Amino acid sequence: MKFSNVIDGTERLVVDLFTATFAASEGAAEGAMIGGLVARQLAETPPDDIRVFTAWDGATPVGGAVFTRLACPDDPRAVVLLSPMAVATDRQGQGIGQTLLRHALAALRAERVDVAMTYGDPAFYGKVGFMPVSVSTVPPPHPLSQPEGWVGQSLTGKALPPLKGPCTCVAALDDPAFW
Ligand SMILES: CC(C)(COP(=O)(O)OP(=O)(O)OC[C@H]1O[C@@H](n2cnc3c(N)ncnc32)[C@H](O)[C@@H]1OP(=O)(O)O)[C@@H](O)C(=O)NCCC(=O)NCCS
Repeated sequence: MKFSNVIDGTERLVVDLFTATFAASEGAAEGAMIGGLVARQLAETPPDDIRVFTAWDGATPVGGAVFTRLACPDDPRAVVLLSPMAVATDRQGQGIGQTLLRHALAALRAERVDVAMTYGDPAFYGKVGFMPVSVSTVPPPHPLSQPEGWVGQSLTGKALPPLKGPCTCVAALDDPAFW
């Protein structure tokens, strides 16, 4: 297994991984929606505002994690949002997701990112350090339909005091349907 944080030239393979994985777990419509989201994130997000981490078996992507900037202009900290993330259906439950995220979080820490947030299953994300965060500690860009899925972690070793909002996400994620 190889890990990469360079996406150039492999965009289509990575989009297809997200489409197929979410189609298998949530149905074809969700697969198309998440595949479309990743395609837009890759095509439209300014390079400074996106980091994509992937896991590969030879020439086949088996895992992907997309981090984009959560911009909170009134707060000095650098904040990223992990969304979406996928591990190929036939490779789930083998530790790939956790290994990929540890690799990604170490790289983001090295880039001096202060805070990582995500919106998903706390039972999985809790395995790599994400903890429940209230919407008053980190204001989400849109109202959350499942506030218990709003989880985050400080990457600096310090506690996570409240962030001064408002915070906005990148254009591709700026749709209430994702929240
Ligand atoms: C969620 C997902 C990224 C996890 O990746 P993975 O490689 O399967 O996870 P790992 O093997 O590293 O870790 C699995 C562990 O998390 C636990 N877990 C908790 N919730 C889980 C969930 N929703 N999915 C998978 N594992 C989950 C498992 O029990 C397992 O624990 P264990 O190691 O103690 O047995 C992957 O299963 C996936 O792509 N699922 C479909 C798409 C999805 O739901 N993406 C996330 C949306 S935000």
